[in-house]
Amino acid sequence: MASAVVDYPVVTKYFALNTDHDMPAVGLGTYRIHKHDTIMHVVDEALSAGYRMFDTAAVYRNEASLGEALKLLLPQHGLDRDDIFVTTKLSPADHGDKDIVKKAYQASLQKLDIDFIDLYLMHFPGTARLQIGDPKNTEMRLKTWASMVDLYDDGCVNAIGVSNFTVAHLQQLMEANHDVYPAVNQVEWHPFYYQMELMDYCKKNSIVLQAYSSLGGKSVQNDDLLNHPAVTKIATKLEVTNAQVLLRWALQQDVAIIPKSTNPEHIRQNIALDFTIAPEDMNILNNLENEVKYAWDPSNVV
Ligand code: A2P
Repeated sequence: MASAVVDYPVVTKYFALNTDHDMPAVGLGTYRIHKHDTIMHVVDEALSAGYRMFDTAAVYRNEASLGEALKLLLPQHGLDRDDIFVTTKLSPADHGDKDIVKKAYQASLQKLDIDFIDLYLMHFPGTARLQIGDPKNTEMRLKTWASMVDLYDDGCVNAIGVSNFTVAHLQQLMEANHDVYPAVNQVEWHPFYYQMELMDYCKKNSIVLQAYSSLGGKSVQNDDLLNHPAVTKIATKLEVTNAQVLLRWALQQDVAIIPKSTNPEHIRQNIALDFTIAPEDMNILNNLENEVKYAWDPSNVV
């Protein structure tokens, strides 16, 4: 039998990126968290619980509130900017040459009110206002990546990566032969939707996979995965919640996570993952035989 995985404590777990930087294994997702007071409250709870990574995006329209919350709360928690890791993402409306990408990057910096971003991701392989089958998507994607590489080479950002990229999209970037490859690919990843081919490709090329929608369709009011009887059975056995099982399942595959919550109890729970799912239970979760994708689908973006 395979030996049990032990990589506790999770609050101090980091993934080494293909730059000189480390990324916390667990971050706080902020998609759809808009209200200034809510962000303040959520960031406060998250810092208390040990979160040191915060994930936002230009399209979430909450960078300014997150920036304000961090500015106010870091000192209250005895922390500096360098103690935390901030990810934001380039909007599909800002794909293009260096000037366009740099302007978008600087707009994010200004809203977040920080000097640099730890990880800057191309949010989607398709460009805004192009049909998914339009070959111009490929041209724009490659041009955008070259612009992001320039930002990185200029020392503006610690690491660059992508989000929602398939193996085909990643291969194109590799073939374009820049000397900087994506550090991270942030994708939908849960037991109802995960791709071993993508995982293998990322492992081979030193790209860290980072999961979003770890609880399946929870954010679109679908509890099919969260309340799946197999998940409940494993959670009951381990005396943890169903959400914790799904988050731990990702971590045990070396996939980073960014669970999002506005509920203090959930925020604490989502980083309290110091337990191990036995190999036979990992196997059960890997074989739920129900493929459902809840978020936007990049697979047909040319
Ligand atoms: P809430 O804010 O009430 O906690 P995702 O990060 O996968 O998009 O999931 C977000 C959704 O999952 C939100 O609706 C959030 O609601 C819910 N959620 C987050 N953590 C938990 C948890 N530990 N248990 C149950 N629901 C959770």
